[in-house]
Parts: sequence; structure tokens; C-alpha cells
Amino acid sequence: MSSLTDFLLYVPIFADLPQETLEKISKIGTNRTYKKDSVILMEEDAGSALFVIVRGKVKISRTSNDGREVILTYLTDSDFFGEMAILDGMTRSATVIASEDSELFIIQRDDFLNLLKDHPEVSIALLQELTKRLRAADMKIKSLSLKDAEGKVATVLLQLADDIGVIKQGIVEIEKLPLQQDLANMAGTSRETISRTLHSFAKKGLVELDGSKLKIMNYEQFKELFA
Ligand code: CMP
Repeated sequence: MSSLTDFLLYVPIFADLPQETLEKISKIGTNRTYKKDSVILMEEDAGSALFVIVRGKVKISRTSNDGREVILTYLTDSDFFGEMAILDGMTRSATVIASEDSELFIIQRDDFLNLLKDHPEVSIALLQELTKRLRAADMKIKSLSLKDAEGKVATVLLQLADDIGVIKQGIVEIEKLPLQQDLANMAGTSRETISRTLHSFAKKGLVELDGSKLKIMNYEQFKELFA
């Protein structure tokens, strides 16, 4: 078994496929590496490929006409992106930038659509992931429209916990928290508000900050407080 086939086994949308299909997929795609900060996709470009993250981290964002950025999410190992333009034939819905050196596995549109047709389990897994993303987007809309500063910052921490956090005995550890300006661009607030709110959370014992590492000390309680 090739190391790429090995990797595909851990990609949720491909996990239920038999060995020989994984071997086939490993041959239809290509690997490409992107340096930190390089642009992988641009909002409004035409799109014809799906990307799976072999290793690394990417930032998904949109920019307003006056240059302000809103960060929709970060994706990491085994996540995929680029499916939207493939599925609806429209332009790319967001810009994707490597926020770390990243290696991506790229599948062309027709090959991916054939996979969906031939393997309903891939289609179902894809729908499950898209549903998860819609739930996260709904939570963000609620947070932006109804919540105060603490609620907005908490929503972003919960999103990061879900996307890149590791849970151990009720504590979620986020190894590398994005920069405060990036957190602000995720929460729809200012960098100052992020700084003030994180310190207030730390004072209340809700989180522990250590450089760029953040721990949510009681994940269940934190979710209940801010859901
Ligand atoms: P596409 O529109 O082809 O190109 C940009 C990609 O960013 C998009 O496909 C999705 O894969 C991804 N994307 C856009 N919005 C979100 C979101 N809210 N959460 C996660 N991924 C997203």
C-alpha cells in the first residue's frame, strides 16, 4: 500500500472505500506543495479542482471591496476544500491561503464527479461534512447578529476547538492560536476586543493562555455558557 493510499484512508470522505478504490484515487490525483502565505485559490476565479490537505493548514477568507478581510475558517490535515465551485459550476466562493507550508492532493473536477457517481458512500460523507459546515455558518450568523463581545470571541474559540483543537479529559488545547488580528477577522470585532476578552476569560479561569497555546479548561461548561 502506498503512503498516499495510507493517507486517503484517514480522509473522512474516503474512509469507507475499499483498498483498490483508494489505490485508484491515489493515481488520479496529483500532489503539490504550497509555501506559507501563498495563495491557493482566489475568490471569484473559475474553479476546476478539489483539494485535500495532506499536511499543513489553510485559511479560508473573503475580502470586502475596501480590503477588509473576514476569516470564515481554518482547515487542516485530511480536510478538503474547493468542492463548491466544482458542484455548482460557479466561481470560487472564497480565497484560500496557506497559513503554514502545506502539501495538497488535487483531484480534477470530472474525476471527482465520477467518484461521487460511482461511490455513494463518498457522496454521503461529503453531504455530512457540508452539513457540519452549514451548522458552523449558522452558529456564526447567530453570534454576529445576537451576541455581545464575549459571545463573539467564545464562538470563535469554539469553532477553533472543533477545527484544530485536541480534547483530553475535558480540556481542549489549541496548540497554535491564530494572531489576534486574525481572531478579530473571524469574530467580526476589533483586535483590542479580542485581547481584552481573552484576558477576561483567563482571569475567570475559563481559558489558560501560554504564548500562542490556548486551553479551554472546561469545554462542556464553556459550550453551555456561550452556545
Ligand atoms: P470553492 O468555492 O470552490 O472555493 C473556496 C472554498 O472554500 C470552497 O469551495 C469551500 O471548499 C471553502 N469554504 C467556503 N466557505 C467555507 C466555510 N464557511 N467553511 C469551510 N469551508 C468553506
